[in-house]
This record gives sequence, C-alpha cells and structure tokens, in this order.
Amino acid sequence: MDSETMIRPRGLPLLLLTILLASIDPAKNTSNVLRPFKSVEFSDANMRQCLWFAMEEYNKESKDEYIFLSSQILQAQLQLTDRMEYMIETEVARTNCTKPYSNNEICVIQENTNLEKKMNCIFLVGALPWNGDFLMLMKDCSEI
Ligand SMILES: *[C@@H]1O[C@H](CO)[C@@H](O)[C@H](O)[C@H]1NC(C)=O
Repeated sequence: MDSETMIRPRGLPLLLLTILLASIDPAKNTSNVLRPFKSVEFSDANMRQCLWFAMEEYNKESKDEYIFLSSQILQAQLQLTDRMEYMIETEVARTNCTKPYSNNEICVIQENTNLEKKMNCIFLVGALPWNGDFLMLMKDCSEI
C-alpha cells in the first residue's frame, strides 16, 4: 500500500475534491498557480498553523456550545500562488470544553457519550505565514 492510499482511506474521491476546488469563489482566487497541489507531511509547520487558524474560524462560526478540535488529519496538500494555499481534509470532533476557549484547559474528544459528534471537513486556507496572514478560502464540512 503506498502512502497515498494510506492517508485517503476515508477521504473524498479525487473527482469530488476537484469539483469542490473548482467551485472556490473566483474573486478570492484570481492568482496564478505557480505550483499545483502536492501532498505535504502532516507535521508540516505551516500546514499546522493553517489548521489551527481553520479550527479557530470553525469554532467562531459554529453555533455549538462546545469547542471542536481536529481529531485526525486525512489529507494535506499545498499549492503555491501569490501565497501558500493549504488544502486540509480533517475529521473534527466535539470536545468537553465549552466556549470561550481558554488555552489552559484540557479538552478531550467526546467519545461514547451522547455528546459525541464528528464532522469531516475540507479547509482551503490561503497563507502568508511569515506575515501572520491567514485567510479561509473555502470550508466544507459534513457530519460523519
Ligand atoms: C475534559 O475531560 C478531561 C478528562 O476527563 C478532564 O481532565 C478535563 O478537565 C475536562 N475538561 C473540561 C473543560 O471539563
């Protein structure tokens, strides 16, 4: 089994992903692609920062009273335009921490309780990490 099949067991079919990426708001995505999407390591520091940003946005927008965290990264790719564009597919799960989030709390994923809730999300984050500049270009989540 090559690494591609290992990280995509529950991933979206590539065709669906292509359609999703093609539906990105063109006004936000007029820049030229200098290097098309290519897989990056799940340990990639810039990708991690983008995921952190995406989860912050996710929690800001969600009406849920609990914080959700990324529980398992399924796929991560980088495209270069005039910025870095990370496409991150991840499972996100409800934790036992309520909003607002404070950094000194220990948040544990709700499992085997009636509060258990998991979503599959694809985030496309545009970033100039060295400027601390992050922008959500696309977010698509569905319940698992
Ligand atoms: C969440 O659960 C863990 C483990 O039971 C506990 O240590 C932690 O304090 C809980 N967090 C909150 C905010 O209740």
